[in-house]
Amino acid sequence: MNAIAQPTVELPLSKRLKAGSSSDHDSVDNLVMAARPFASLQRYGCFLRVQHAFHGAIDALYQQTPLNLLLPGLRDLPRYQAVCADLADLGLEVPAKPAPVEPADAWHAIGWLYCSEGSNLGAAFLFKQSQLIGLSETHGARHLAAHPDGRALHWRQFVALLDGLDIDDKQNQAAIQGARDAFDFYRQALAQNF
Ligand code: HEM
Repeated sequence: MNAIAQPTVELPLSKRLKAGSSSDHDSVDNLVMAARPFASLQRYGCFLRVQHAFHGAIDALYQQTPLNLLLPGLRDLPRYQAVCADLADLGLEVPAKPAPVEPADAWHAIGWLYCSEGSNLGAAFLFKQSQLIGLSETHGARHLAAHPDGRALHWRQFVALLDGLDIDDKQNQAAIQGARDAFDFYRQALAQNF
């Protein structure tokens, strides 16, 4: 008698990315809060240098044609220039652009982009904190401001693109690894700038 195949419950990519990187997220979240980036403008400057290191290293990914074919509209989303403008608003030196990261393939790169785009959700809280020290979407906290469509809608649109990808298990694993690499990179940038 043939065994009846059990249906496998396949999680969409966005859910797999979340499940595969949530412990990394929580550690980064805790580290950022422990660094007290909104305790003073000086500490906020350190936070901006962390953001500069991260968004500078991934900026080129947003322009790559193969990634834009997979995720249409990607090239409109990078926040690196906004981070540079925030540093300039505060009269801080804008460091040289960091060397670009080179994920092993497009799937790893998608994990990095998930990490970056998802960080817009937590940025709602960070943006509110930044207002308490006199910053705004036009001064010093441009890169934390919501997408014109609103954070939630923008995120749902990005998730829909991720979940619409035709992606096999190996590619899924590569994307999760990419997201974890991105959080690792962020942790290192935090350690270097605070
Ligand atoms: C103090 C700092 C942070 C706080 C308080 C925070 C908080 C949050 C919150 C509240 C969410 C929404 C969770 C949900 O609606 O399900 C979120 C999502 C997310 N954050 Fe953060 N975050 C922080 C820093 C970061 C950083 C630095 C990164 C990336 C470098 C990041 C990446 C993400 C990602 C990828 C998601 C999407 C998770 C998903 O798949 O739903 N976060 N964060």
